[in-house]
Amino acid sequence: MSLSGTVPRWQHGGMELRPSYPVRSRRLLLRPLRRSDAAALAAYRGLPEVCRYVPFEPMDAGRIADRLAGEWARTALDAEGQSLTLGVELAATGDLVGDVVLFWHSREHRGGEVGYVFHPGYGGRGYATEAVHALLHLAFDRLGLHRVIARIDARNRASAALAARLGMRQEAHLVRNEWFKGEWSDELDFALVEDEWLAQHRGGSPSCGQGTQ
Ligand SMILES: CC(C)(COP(=O)(O)OP(=O)(O)OC[C@H]1O[C@@H](n2cnc3c(N)ncnc32)[C@H](O)[C@@H]1OP(=O)(O)O)[C@@H](O)C(=O)NCCC(=O)NCCS
Repeated sequence: MSLSGTVPRWQHGGMELRPSYPVRSRRLLLRPLRRSDAAALAAYRGLPEVCRYVPFEPMDAGRIADRLAGEWARTALDAEGQSLTLGVELAATGDLVGDVVLFWHSREHRGGEVGYVFHPGYGGRGYATEAVHALLHLAFDRLGLHRVIARIDARNRASAALAARLGMRQEAHLVRNEWFKGEWSDELDFALVEDEWLAQHRGGSPSCGQGTQ
């Protein structure tokens, strides 16, 4: 998959994202979640430590089944306000190691946001970084977004490090801005705009070394 020379759809007047699945990166496949993923999703989305800094509580099988039948069933984006959640599979083994989400907030401002949740047993190997990099490729080069943000609990060092590894810029530290799981929490806002993304990939070689193919 080439990261340069892509003519975004928005330049032709329309904006939509209809990836050909699976979306491949060096070691990973990104693809829509399916009902058969329920147990693998519960194995990490059910863990309190995974949910510490995300808006949801540990999920049981019923909650996961509801999501799979609902918002996680979407496979394309064609209107602002939608989100696309994709499972992240190890290409070598087929193991589901996490999931990523792209929120399309605004058509006018071409704005979006990324989120990511990974199984801690697969942490520390760069899989999340590689998967979010592939998601940013979809966001900028396919959907045609201008600006993509990540909003991160200031205590979530692993997530902030991931955003920084992807070249996202910390733009704000919002102090005690949210009542979150029983206490006030600080939020870090990271962002990347399209010219920064393109500059990272000039010559077709991603600076973070996690190139999508
Ligand atoms: C946020 C989260 C995805 C980060 O996971 P992670 O394992 O740190 O991220 P990666 O899979 O990209 O791995 C990065 C680590 O692997 C190392 N690494 C090894 N090979 C690598 C490679 N090829 N490329 C990049 N990093 C690599 C990095 O140096 C880094 O190690 P470090 O933590 O010692 O600095 C994970 O902690 C998580 O799912 N948390 C729970 C949900 C959550 O909080 N989501 C974010 C909400 S904002």
